[in-house]
Amino acid sequence: MPRDNPELISPTAHYTGTVWLQHGLSHPAFATLQGQAFYYALKAPMAAAKLLGGPTLEAFLLARHRLIDLQLERAIESGEISQVIEIAAGLSPRGWRFASRHRNRITYIEADLVDMAKYKHSLLQAGGLNSDQHHVRIINALADTGADSLAEIAAKLDPNKGLAIITEGLVNYFDTPTVERMWARFAGVLSGFQHGLYLSDLHIKANNRGPATRTFMSLLSTFVGGRVHLHFKDTGTAEAALAHAGFCQGVLLKPSEFREQLPDCRTSGVDVVRVVCARTVST
Ligand SMILES: C[S@@+](CC[C@H](N)C(=O)[O-])C[C@H]1O[C@@H](n2cnc3c(N)ncnc32)[C@H](O)[C@@H]1O
Repeated sequence: MPRDNPELISPTAHYTGTVWLQHGLSHPAFATLQGQAFYYALKAPMAAAKLLGGPTLEAFLLARHRLIDLQLERAIESGEISQVIEIAAGLSPRGWRFASRHRNRITYIEADLVDMAKYKHSLLQAGGLNSDQHHVRIINALADTGADSLAEIAAKLDPNKGLAIITEGLVNYFDTPTVERMWARFAGVLSGFQHGLYLSDLHIKANNRGPATRTFMSLLSTFVGGRVHLHFKDTGTAEAALAHAGFCQGVLLKPSEFREQLPDCRTSGVDVVRVVCARTVST
């Protein structure tokens, strides 16, 4: 893939990429000037939110990232999963970290819209971080068919092994019908594999009430340049939507319940987010 222009990629991907770097989760090869500018611009509002006892963006980003890592790690360690497609990977270091740690035990594909995918590919190459089991692909999470569809990418993987699909920082950009169609698409692809696992962050209405959280959500919407969608009224409705999409086991994990294993899940306000952990049965 040719090198591409970092200005064309999502500002939030630059921001979250810098959060991972600032907290020792990433590699300097993924540092961007845009990300640092956003990160330092948001430092003061984040400190104010913390003083007021409200959620901070950084706290729940770290909680969701660590919790997704933990679930993926467990699924790989148990032998359930050996192939991963991370959709909307942005500047996340997860693909590099898991591919480095598990080497030829896994195949890790990170995928994003065209400009981001080209940029990530160029960063991996420039940093000497690419490896045979780690690939970057162009995807449109909303495409049913075609070269940039999940179906096309998954068709090149081994159906006799387990596949995990990850989305982080993606679903809250889409309205509920779009998310439901996307989940059905994911469940359909995963059910063609021996084991199927879907991991994602999700913000539901019941955990995002109250003036502090509402102010925070409107700040977040301004930052991402569009509405942040809160899809389901409560955990039960979200789990029912996962079942309707075709998952046989879909649960929403609460970050604070993982505080023993994950120090980043001990911070106040982390429960504004949930982590979807959903499985399919092989058909
Ligand atoms: C907030 S960033 C999250 C990046 C990364 N997952 C992280 O947590 O650091 C959102 C990402 O979604 C990607 N994205 C937006 N719409 C998409 C779509 N239809 N298909 C695939 N990726 C998409 C953007 O390019 C961007 O990289």
